Formats: sequence, C-alpha cells, structure tokens
Amino acid sequence: MPPPPLAAREAIREERFGDVWTNDLNDAFADIAPYYDRANDIAALGMWRYFRRRFMSTIDLQPNQHVLDVCAGTNAVGIALLTREPTLDVHAMDRSAHMQAVGKQRAEKRGFLIKSTIGDVSRLPFPDNHFDIVTLQFASRHLKVREVFGEILRVLKPGGHFHHSDMLRPANPVVKHLYYTYLRACLAFTSLLVGSGPASVKCKQYFLDALELFYSPAELSTVLDEIGFEDVTIHTVFHGMLGFHRGTKPEMPRE
Ligand SMILES: C[S@@+](CC[C@H](N)C(=O)[O-])C[C@H]1O[C@@H](n2cnc3c(N)ncnc32)[C@H](O)[C@@H]1O
Repeated sequence: MPPPPLAAREAIREERFGDVWTNDLNDAFADIAPYYDRANDIAALGMWRYFRRRFMSTIDLQPNQHVLDVCAGTNAVGIALLTREPTLDVHAMDRSAHMQAVGKQRAEKRGFLIKSTIGDVSRLPFPDNHFDIVTLQFASRHLKVREVFGEILRVLKPGGHFHHSDMLRPANPVVKHLYYTYLRACLAFTSLLVGSGPASVKCKQYFLDALELFYSPAELSTVLDEIGFEDVTIHTVFHGMLGFHRGTKPEMPRE
C-alpha cells in the first residue's frame, strides 16, 4: 500500500504510534541498552560500523566546535566525532537514562567527556543559535519529526549544519519488499540471540510498522526544506534503505 501523502504523514504517524512513543519505547530502550551495540552489529551483519563511517564522512569538523547529538543513545556518534576531532565540545541528549549510562561508560573508556541531558528532544533545553553542528542518527522514526527538526533549526547557529542518518522507506516497491523481509527475519533472529526482554519484544512489530510509515529519502529532503533548512543534500546507501541528509541553517531568517 502506498504511504499517506506527505502533508498528512506526521499527524498519521502520531495518531498510530503516539501511544508507543509515550508508554512503551522508554522501557524497550531500558531493556535494549546493555546489548544495543552488539545487537546492531549482528542485525546489520557487521555493517553497522561501516554505516557510521559513511555518515561520519559526510560531516566536516573544525576544532572546538559545539556539537549536539540528539537521541544519542549509547553515544556512538559523539565518540566517533571526538575520535576524529578531540577538541570538540559534545553534548548528548536522550530520554533513556539507561542508554546514556552505557554511553557514558563507553565514552569514558576512550577518555572522552560527553555532556549529557536526559529528556524528551521535542523540547531542546538549549538557547537559540547555540550549536555549530547537530546530529541525529537512527531515531527519527520514534519522533514527531517536524517538531524536533524545528527545535534543531532553532538551536543551530546561522550557517550551522544538521546531519541526519537513518533507515528510510525505499521508494522502489521490490527493494522495499526484500528489505522488510530481511528486517523481519533479522529482528526475530537478533532478539533470540541477545535474549531480548518483554518490553522490547512488545515493540518488535512497532519497529517495522514505524519504518513503513516513515519517509523516503526524497520525502525527508522535502520535510527539511519545508522546515527551513537550506542547501539540503543527501547520500543514500543500498537503494535508499539508508540516507544521510545534511541541511544548513540560513544565515538570514527566511521571509
Ligand atoms: C535506535 S536508538 C539510536 C541511538 C543512537 N543515536 C545511535 O545511533 O546508536 C534511538 C534512541 O532514541 C531515543 N529516543 C526515542 N525517542 C526519544 C525522545 N522523544 N526524546 C529523546 N530520546 C528519544 C531512545 O531512548 C534511544 O536511545
């Protein structure tokens, strides 16, 4: 079935998944936190680090820049950025204290300090025009995208960049069918292997449904443009199953 039109998509996503976002997802990530990184490596057949490297290669860094990683989880992005440029000031925000506790340990093990705020990223508790770079990886399917992207635009400095990476909905129906078949098998296999708890098992079908109603690479570019980012660029991997978007905050507010 084709996805609902772009203009109606956010309202439909919210109506369909709002309950899971509010009531179930945090418990699922509390359950997933201890094995999150291992499970991703298994599920992506070892390609997870490759995806991250590809995403990182789209980000230009300067010494001492202020970076916000939204929905930072176990700090995979913050650690990768600091490994490239240790002078960065990196701030992570996530609603899951469990995911961030694992992330803090991982960062400290490598000698990095990543500041952390626990909370819902629908409201970013940071001043306007504050960060040079904002990143968001593998979490947008769980978010009110337009609301969060609007907040990201607000906290970015004019000329600052938003870098987004996620699994997207392939536009080609054949690719989409193969992709979902793989994901379904993969979720079942991985959750058996790592011994998922009841909270994450409860969300298994949601993880697939959320992707089904999510954006294709071109649609996400349109959303970014509509929200007010300029010079939106995209790199896709594997026929649009994964996309790396970049949007820039205009130097002058749009009329
Ligand atoms: C799949 S993980 C991605 C983590 C990390 N960005 C990565 O690339 O590995 C999704 C993360 O989004 C967080 N999250 C989901 N909804 C959120 C919300 N409304 N506010 C803050 N964090 C949220 C979850 O707690 C989880 O840590």
